[in-house]
Amino acid sequence: MKPVSPPVRLVLLPSPANVSPRVLEAMSLPLIGHLDPSFLEIMDEVQAQLRTLFGTSNPFTLPISATGSAGMEACLVNLLEPGDRIVVGVNGVFGTRMCEVARRAGAEVTAVEAAWGTPLDPAAMIEAIERVKPQVVSFVHAETSTGVCQPVPEISQAARMAGALVVLDCVTSLAGIPLAIDEWGVDAVYSGTQKCLSCPPGLSPVSFSPRALERVAQRKTPVQSWFLDTSLLGSYYGDGTGSGKRAYHHTAPISSIYAIYEGLRIVEEEGMEARAERHRKAASQLIAGLGGLGLVPLVEEDYRLPMLTTVKLPEALHGEAEAKIRTRLLNEYDIEIGAGLGALAGKVWRIGLMGENARGAAVTRVLAALAPEIANV
Ligand SMILES: Cc1ncc(COP(=O)(O)O)c(C=O)c1O
Repeated sequence: MKPVSPPVRLVLLPSPANVSPRVLEAMSLPLIGHLDPSFLEIMDEVQAQLRTLFGTSNPFTLPISATGSAGMEACLVNLLEPGDRIVVGVNGVFGTRMCEVARRAGAEVTAVEAAWGTPLDPAAMIEAIERVKPQVVSFVHAETSTGVCQPVPEISQAARMAGALVVLDCVTSLAGIPLAIDEWGVDAVYSGTQKCLSCPPGLSPVSFSPRALERVAQRKTPVQSWFLDTSLLGSYYGDGTGSGKRAYHHTAPISSIYAIYEGLRIVEEEGMEARAERHRKAASQLIAGLGGLGLVPLVEEDYRLPMLTTVKLPEALHGEAEAKIRTRLLNEYDIEIGAGLGALAGKVWRIGLMGENARGAAVTRVLAALAPEIANV
């Protein structure tokens, strides 16, 4: 085998994003055991800082050792038993995925759909919640397949009033938009590390409210996944006080925990408000520049994600033409941007400005690459 030698790219995808050099350095630090008190101290810090970022006091807040999809699965398989009802908001790929995971957990799924590129209609969600009386209501805060940011409190409060637990997907929003899950009334949340935290993929921060854990404790059937069972995970990650016995559950991915530690430290240094403002500023620079190239955002201004911009392409760029430009961007400019998914395939681009990439330099570079390529079509 030759030494591994990936090209150096500007990764402006919906996922992942470039990793901070500080995070890469942290990952090369010496390995220690996962029950070593020094490592548990690092883990405690990670858990505490995740509480701050999620905006929660939930003791059960921890990084699951797998990507964001495992966080989704953890929330749904713990909170749903066969025959339970769930109302899922679906306005893109990840709401659709939630339905599939919930179905596999044996739940009766009611999907409340909204057009891709638009937010969920709270009135339609509330109507379904009152009609179905679900055990769980679940939706996506930052829908990466379309670039829509979903307002949370109206839906979550209606769900809670109806006695349902609220699950929220914050894979793309964590560390890019301030979150306040306790204030919003969210019971279970999951995220990922490869986006606004500027870490590699491979961990899924999750948080469960005491109410959610009580539901798990009252289950009549065991959680279908041994690996993601919250009652077993708690034996290693502890009760949030930093005290108590910690026992082996699975071998924690030590180097990935160093990575998220450093990623979280960078967020703390910058401050979440300043970081959110940096993301907003980069997005508005990008949108202004794309406007100059004749490209307009898919999503209405009030619901646009700051870390992911979806732009509509004129018909001349649909299909093969847009794919060719993305390929040229990759090969000639070392920049990767995202294609459209599902009904939007071939008709939009999705450009991520996440974490370290949410800066003017990245915006300037991608605009400078796109301008001649679009002019050449
Ligand atoms: C909103 C959303 N949810 C879930 C996921 C799944 O995360 P992963 O690909 O890390 O498993 C993603 C990934 O991009 C996402 O954007």
